[in-house]
Amino acid sequence: MKTKVAIIGSGPSGLLLGQLLHRAGIDNVIVERKNPDYILSRIRAGVLEQGMVDLLREAGVSERMDASGLVHDGFEMAFNGRRERIDLKALTDGKTVMVYGQTEVTRDLMDARTAVGARSFYDAENVQPHDIKTDAPYLTFDCDGETIRLDCDYIAGCDGFHGVSRQSIPEETLKVFERVYPFGWLGLLADTPPVSHELIYANHARGFALCSMRSPTRTRYYLQVGAQENVADWSDERFWDELKLRLPADVAERLVTGPSLEKSIAPLRSFVVEPMQYGRLFLLGDAAHIVPPTGAKGLNLAASDVSTLYRILLKVYGEGRTDLLEKYSEICLRRIWKAERFSWWMTSILHTFPDADAFSKRLQQTELDYYLGSAAGRKTIAENYVGLPYESIE
Ligand code: APR
Ligand code: PHB
Repeated sequence: MKTKVAIIGSGPSGLLLGQLLHRAGIDNVIVERKNPDYILSRIRAGVLEQGMVDLLREAGVSERMDASGLVHDGFEMAFNGRRERIDLKALTDGKTVMVYGQTEVTRDLMDARTAVGARSFYDAENVQPHDIKTDAPYLTFDCDGETIRLDCDYIAGCDGFHGVSRQSIPEETLKVFERVYPFGWLGLLADTPPVSHELIYANHARGFALCSMRSPTRTRYYLQVGAQENVADWSDERFWDELKLRLPADVAERLVTGPSLEKSIAPLRSFVVEPMQYGRLFLLGDAAHIVPPTGAKGLNLAASDVSTLYRILLKVYGEGRTDLLEKYSEICLRRIWKAERFSWWMTSILHTFPDADAFSKRLQQTELDYYLGSAAGRKTIAENYVGLPYESIE
């Protein structure tokens, strides 16, 4: 079997790249180890930057998002009894974010791929890239008891943090940058009305808390918990009680609780691998980088990688500009590192660190007080939160 671009992984990165390439007439095949139901059962992030919203529109998959996504002009940060609003729209010359779940983005992309009849293999086992340093790379994988060989021009490694793509690159050519935080996020999804029409990020001595949402009737809340915490120890009642303790009193009073639809704990980590290309294999999204969720950047970085590789491949196939391929990694990494910095910073100012001494605690409160009390500080938070611009591909 032959295609132009072989895509490993059917998460948002692989599906969005596949959809954009397909619309541009660039044939591609997606090979994924799980099944669609499993992928759609994962509850992930929910805030889309303007750049990602525009890219989904360009990919022709924005109908449901435009009809039911919630445009947010601002969000709140709470600390030390104060609630401060970051007016995203006013501080960024009109930019906003869209609250729309990653699960829904993934569903829209899967439906679009089915509708156009592009090829995908689900439940594929032993996916393996070969000859990636040559100009005739290929994948092999097992599907329905058969071993399939997929010849291609390029391989897009969109297979997440635990995928095979990054592992196929010789270790000595990769540089890894990593930070593991001494806590995780316990998330709860419920069919309750949001406590506020905007997101609230709360710094509290008991630990960080976040009020988010998926729709006017579905909420997503998070609590900072210890890295070793077990979700089985968190009854819904315990979750809601702890959340109320960490929120400003007037917000806690308004909180509507209800049975959880899902509850899970995610560890917090920063991770970047350099470079993001080896021969004809390109890494995108979580395969190349992880951010802690505090800045809502994970999914959005996946989208900017997709945009970069897509625009490069358009010029490769349209104008023979193969020189651009080796620029992929540096272009992506410039934006990724800025989002890594912002995510690390938001994490560091909002969470309780178990080993923080009295001096560090005062500095953290002062950091919040200073940034939120300064027009320049608010602007820098806002411009990062709505998303830094995508670089043009010349
Ligand atoms: N072979 C084939 N598919 C694989 C393999 C493999 N060896 N390993 C992993 N996959 C699949 C996974 O099953 C998954 O469906 O690759 C997909 C990767 O999807 P995601 O983990 O969602 O990664 P990505 O598409 O880059 O999405 C961006 O950013 O911060 C996050 O929450 C955000 O998950 C989102 C991510
Ligand atoms: C979410 O709604 O899941 C969410 C929102 C904002 C974040 C992280 C997660 O920073």
